[in-house]
Amino acid sequence: MKRDLLAINDFNQEEILGLFEKSVDLKEKRQKGIEHLPLKGKTLGMIFNKHSTRTRISFEVGMFELGGHALFLTGDQLQLNRGETLKDSAQVLSRYLNGILIRTYDHNEVIALAENATIPVINGLTDLNHPVQILADIFTIKEKLGGIEGVKVAYVGDGNNVAYSWMMGASLMGMHLAVACPKSCQPDPVPQLCGNGKVEIVEDPFEAVQNADIIYTDVWISMGQEKDEENKKKLLHPYQINQKLVDAAKKDALVMHCLPAHREMEITTEVLDGKHSIVFDQAENRLHVQKAILETLL
Ligand code: CP
Ligand code: NVA
Repeated sequence: MKRDLLAINDFNQEEILGLFEKSVDLKEKRQKGIEHLPLKGKTLGMIFNKHSTRTRISFEVGMFELGGHALFLTGDQLQLNRGETLKDSAQVLSRYLNGILIRTYDHNEVIALAENATIPVINGLTDLNHPVQILADIFTIKEKLGGIEGVKVAYVGDGNNVAYSWMMGASLMGMHLAVACPKSCQPDPVPQLCGNGKVEIVEDPFEAVQNADIIYTDVWISMGQEKDEENKKKLLHPYQINQKLVDAAKKDALVMHCLPAHREMEITTEVLDGKHSIVFDQAENRLHVQKAILETLL
């Protein structure tokens, strides 16, 4: 039976740890130049209704490196955005492709696509969540700290799609997540948190980073939310990741950002380029973890 990845808890804890083992192996093979082509002859259609640098390129390169082929499909070029139904599109795409990656606005569209497709559907970000990002982030934490159970992550900033997936991921993987944001920027409540991790939402960023192993942030204005820009900038100003906030966490705390970063807004250049930052290793790991996801699902 086909499997989709629409949200982190489409996988259980054991499966995620298995995915991470595969990611380590794929990363090593790539570093040593060992060819590994399990997806020879397979094709991934990648539908993008929003901009992307990391997700698009890492999935496209990932498919190529696994021996397969990726098609970059913008919504504008498909009949889908000219009125062809999602149901018909899902059935047609299922006849040509071996998997679909989709980045779009409404999460319900991704659910409907998965329900009507007979091939795996992977969520490459919706307004609600961003599962492939947070899987790669947790892998990066395991790689840097040697483990994930009990690790404290302080997510400071807008309670957006990334924060939502962090709540699911931290809970499932037994981590401690403190989300710090203004009341009006809180993330959507997750209907069912699986696992034995701890998730709390606070208002004070300094409270969140206390004893934190990881300080994490994301953009204040997500794609599609530009109309709220001025209001959000004012509200989120006290939630900037700067040196003062980093100094309030554990001494060796690591700083993460899913990128793209808006320097001097949600994070200062001093911190982003500073010794605590692991943002580019984090970005690289998108490739290795997504290759593991592709090999598993396709
Ligand atoms: N972090 C992330 O998903 O980046 P892109 O928007 O560039 O894909
Ligand atoms: N929250 C951001 C993440 C970008 C990778 C957005 O949705 O635009």
